[in-house]
Amino acid sequence: MPDINGSIFAPGGFPDSAVRDFGREVQAFRHTLHTDALFTDDGLAALLDRYPKDRIGVFTMGDAPGSWRRGRLGDVTGPGLLDAVKSGRVWLNLRGASDNDAEIGTLNRRIFAELKTKVRNFHPFRTDLGLLISSPNARVFYHLDTPRVMLWHVRGEKRVWIYPRREPYVGPTALENVVSRKTEEEIPYSANLDSGACVFDLKPGDMVHWPQNAPHRIDNGNSLNVSLSIEFMTPLALMRANAVHANAWLRNRFGYQGGLEDRFSPSWVWKFAFTRALKALERRKPGKAVLPPSFVLDGSGEIADAA
Ligand SMILES: [Fe+2]
Repeated sequence: MPDINGSIFAPGGFPDSAVRDFGREVQAFRHTLHTDALFTDDGLAALLDRYPKDRIGVFTMGDAPGSWRRGRLGDVTGPGLLDAVKSGRVWLNLRGASDNDAEIGTLNRRIFAELKTKVRNFHPFRTDLGLLISSPNARVFYHLDTPRVMLWHVRGEKRVWIYPRREPYVGPTALENVVSRKTEEEIPYSANLDSGACVFDLKPGDMVHWPQNAPHRIDNGNSLNVSLSIEFMTPLALMRANAVHANAWLRNRFGYQGGLEDRFSPSWVWKFAFTRALKALERRKPGKAVLPPSFVLDGSGEIADAA
């Protein structure tokens, strides 16, 4: 069981000097979560056994961008699944873990309670802790996420590249396509962008946080990796996402060029209201899965094409 009286951040792991730029700049912190028994082999196997199987995202990938494939789980136990991740090239995302597991829900609340004591006027909502369990040498290609994201690393080693939220790293159309869910999160990449990235070699106990929508990519080291990907919105982050969504619709219909919405603009107010109305209408239409499952991961760790 976790030490519920302990501090989430390590001593000095979130200095006062970091408060002002929290969410505005790429920042690294130190935490204590990697000492929790939840993240040992036994703890993870038990979690995978009790976790709703249909809430585990399962992916595999090659070496090149665009090779990310979604799969689904076959008949597999928690220990078998953990072994499959250790020996394969698999990326598990226990989506919504803060809602689907009581122990992780408690962890999520403790994290945000402690953040609120450190960051003044911090009003997060839609907080969602996803647990990532991934294979040695697995990778996540260049992409961006709609909400704000913190990556709390607890096992193994990985390298993460975080890029500025401006051109040429991301253009308005790519941003709008992701935020409006016209595409998955992957966006165009070329290796010459790397010179502008902040690069971190993450070890257990590291946490990185970056500005909303900043592109990033990840290469695992030669070890089983476990991280918490914590997404959240703030009032400003939600307003910004809705402004970008409005820009996507307006571009599609009228060729409007809304830009990257890098700073607050009064237009966010009407764009926010516009997108809320748009989403209310869209809710009446059936959604579609952009990337359907194409393989099954079974108890032997074999990857078979989905029927
Ligand atoms: Fe991401």
